[in-house]
Amino acid sequence: NTANRFLQSMIAAACVALASSSHAAELTRDNGSPVGDNQNSQTAGPNGPVLLQDSHLIEKLQRFDRERIPERVVHARGTGAFGEFVPSADISDLTTAKVFTPGTKTPVFVRFSTVMGYRGSPEQARDPRGFAVKFYTEQGNWDLVGINLPIFFIRDAIKFPDFVHANKPSAVTGVQDANLAFDFFAHAPEATSMLTRLYSIEGMPDSYRNMDGYGVHAFKFVNADGKYTYVKFHWKSAQGMHGLRPKDIPGSIGADWNLMTNDLYGALKAGNAPKWDLYIQVLKPSELDAFDFNPLDDTKVWTGVPERKIGTLTLNRVPDNYFESTEESAFAPSRMVPGIEPSEDRMLQGRMFSYADTQMYRLGANFNQLPINRPRVPVTNNNQDGAMNFGDRKGEVNYEPSALNELAQNPRYKSVQTPLAGTTQQAAIRKTLNFRQAGEYYRMLPAQERQDLVTALSGDLNHVTNDANKYAMLSYFYKADADYGTRLARATHADLTRVKSLADKLVEN
Ligand code: HEM
Repeated sequence: NTANRFLQSMIAAACVALASSSHAAELTRDNGSPVGDNQNSQTAGPNGPVLLQDSHLIEKLQRFDRERIPERVVHARGTGAFGEFVPSADISDLTTAKVFTPGTKTPVFVRFSTVMGYRGSPEQARDPRGFAVKFYTEQGNWDLVGINLPIFFIRDAIKFPDFVHANKPSAVTGVQDANLAFDFFAHAPEATSMLTRLYSIEGMPDSYRNMDGYGVHAFKFVNADGKYTYVKFHWKSAQGMHGLRPKDIPGSIGADWNLMTNDLYGALKAGNAPKWDLYIQVLKPSELDAFDFNPLDDTKVWTGVPERKIGTLTLNRVPDNYFESTEESAFAPSRMVPGIEPSEDRMLQGRMFSYADTQMYRLGANFNQLPINRPRVPVTNNNQDGAMNFGDRKGEVNYEPSALNELAQNPRYKSVQTPLAGTTQQAAIRKTLNFRQAGEYYRMLPAQERQDLVTALSGDLNHVTNDANKYAMLSYFYKADADYGTRLARATHADLTRVKSLADKLVEN
């Protein structure tokens, strides 16, 4: 009846008024024009098919179909946060890097991660944790791309793809398989120290806030006189270190497999800003030969070299958009600033190539122009074009040197000169010392932590079906420490005499 229809039209008008009054802005199409109906597609009559001319519908679906980019080939599962770095000591005798000049405050973006799992995988994995820091310095971006442990599994980049293939989910089942992982490690005795740390409580932090971070490799600091020293970086958590015991891991995953992200973001949103102090160890080039290990071997800690504090990192903000920060961020050990250079560490040398390469594939050639990666200083180079170029380089002189352009190189920033000798070669490093530091670490652990380490490691070794691989692994741990190897052999029901005789054949050199 008429009264009812009138009432309905009044209600409809009120709804439209309410809709327009309660929203600050109009929904638009990708070209910026307003959308009239975002609920109903255009159709041919009440029962007919959808029209091709409904370009709002078609573009909306097309754009949605393209939302995913490849996940990182490693470290796919990650969490990012913004913060700042403040230096606490004058180290101008060591480096010209402005980020360490007292009185500066450098904005940072940090991405924490696990390594082997897919993008949505549980965060309580037996895995190193990525600790990547992007410093937006006044001399350009410096990325310190580290992990929560001080060393690594291997010492030569040529082994990295094999290491990752064996540790990532199986090519057949898509599931991680300890049998494949230890098939690799049985052929990589240099991993003994890292495996010992990984299976200890230090290798299973219960939150990103409660773990340390390390640059792992030696880097070079270069001072104003062009003199260089070797340096290792260590982030010490002001929250302290706290980990999950093996018995608590399944329950923790069951309760919340996004624990690490929820913990970090919960703290940040509550205004509880986590901090890490940055410490360095320094060696002169002349001191490199003073050890029975090679300080440029990333499977080694620099035992006996004192640490000194040089600054503090504070995280204080959850990014507004996960994809535009955490996913689109691109860290690379090769992104350095004047005063910081790579050492001759063979792993670091491989990493110097790999990151920008994968990022050009993962994000595109112009990934450095994305807001999260863009330096906070003007970038004045002659790069041009490329997919998705939204840079603002001006002028037609896109080359250098040129009499028409003011852009010029500055010899002040030439890389440091390192004396070298010898022939080209393909040979293992001298002083491999594969086992000793693993034993030293094991003997440092309190009794309960030793037991937990044996429980966690034997749990995975018990999945190894290949006898030769299992005994090779046990012999490495026995060589590191007889008590450690004996307890692992018992926990894996192995023949201890066979373990000992294999260990006896291993040479520490
Ligand atoms: C990520 C390669 C060793 C720490 C990555 C990525 C690649 C890669 C390709 C993905 C980067 C991206 O998609 O943006 C390599 C190679 C290595 C190596 C070839 C050895 C030769 C290491 C070592 C460390 C490390 C020794 C620790 C010191 C990280 C971290 C990330 C990462 C923290 C994640 C960065 C982020 O959060 O975006 N690595 N890596 N990598 N790598 Fe390595």
